[in-house]
Amino acid sequence: MSATILDGRKLSTEIREELKGRTRKLEEKGVTPGIAGILVGDDPGSATYIGLKEKAAGDVGIRSQMVRLPQDIKEEELLREIETLNADARVHGIFVQLPLPQHLDENRILAAVSPGKDVDGFHPSNVGKAWLGQQAFLPATPVGICEMLVRSGYGNLRDKNVVIVNVDNLVGKPLASILAQEKVGANVMLCHPSTPDLSTYTRQADMVVVAVDRPRFITADMVKDGVIAIDFGSNYIEDASAKTGKRLVGDLDFDTLKEKAEAITPVPGGVGPMTVTMLLANTVTAAES
Ligand code: GUN
Repeated sequence: MSATILDGRKLSTEIREELKGRTRKLEEKGVTPGIAGILVGDDPGSATYIGLKEKAAGDVGIRSQMVRLPQDIKEEELLREIETLNADARVHGIFVQLPLPQHLDENRILAAVSPGKDVDGFHPSNVGKAWLGQQAFLPATPVGICEMLVRSGYGNLRDKNVVIVNVDNLVGKPLASILAQEKVGANVMLCHPSTPDLSTYTRQADMVVVAVDRPRFITADMVKDGVIAIDFGSNYIEDASAKTGKRLVGDLDFDTLKEKAEAITPVPGGVGPMTVTMLLANTVTAAES
């Protein structure tokens, strides 16, 4: 059996076309959806990521405003920048690119974003509402994973065992908060990459989600036949045949897993493109409301 490849680029293009329709409708009512991003410092990965968000926003008709701030900015100054964006009626969505420099208190910064503009879904109010099953902004990566599953015909997870190998606030915890709700009905387990005998759990999973940034961390012997395998890992490995000498791979041993899985996400071109798209979708939703 060869798995269905869940093509995040294709789905993303489809969703972005829908977003263009929604932004056109907003324009007819005199509303231009606006997103503001804050980048502190000059981490190259974050700079690339924020640039992608800026371009993608423009492509679907969202006005973007990226605020680039120095690495040594004082916390109070950053909080004032967030307050200015909170008060700006043209800005419907705000995100603070992570990670932040060490001297800044991430919890305090994320809690300063107005919950109604928190399109990243990182504000404690949105996190709490998500767990309570209430209407809230949810982080883009887990929403992107769910959207991919639904649009590919794998959205019914009732009574399915889902093992998530990631416990962070961006992926594992919010994904669990979605899938554990009664209306979805999945049996969810959060594991750490260091969990002893991890394969005891992953072998029982109907769906495995991994995001640990370790190449080929999940191998074919760790999963059962017909698993749905979702990968949000990002690793550059040496590859003499690649132009740059390096190649981007995820955390799944893709070549062997694709022979065993029912469906699988590639890296690149799987969950990654969905993440930016769902941030834009949250922004359009914020403008609509
Ligand atoms: N850094 C890595 N992923 C993300 C994300 O989804 N949102 C923000 N704000 N920063 C990130």
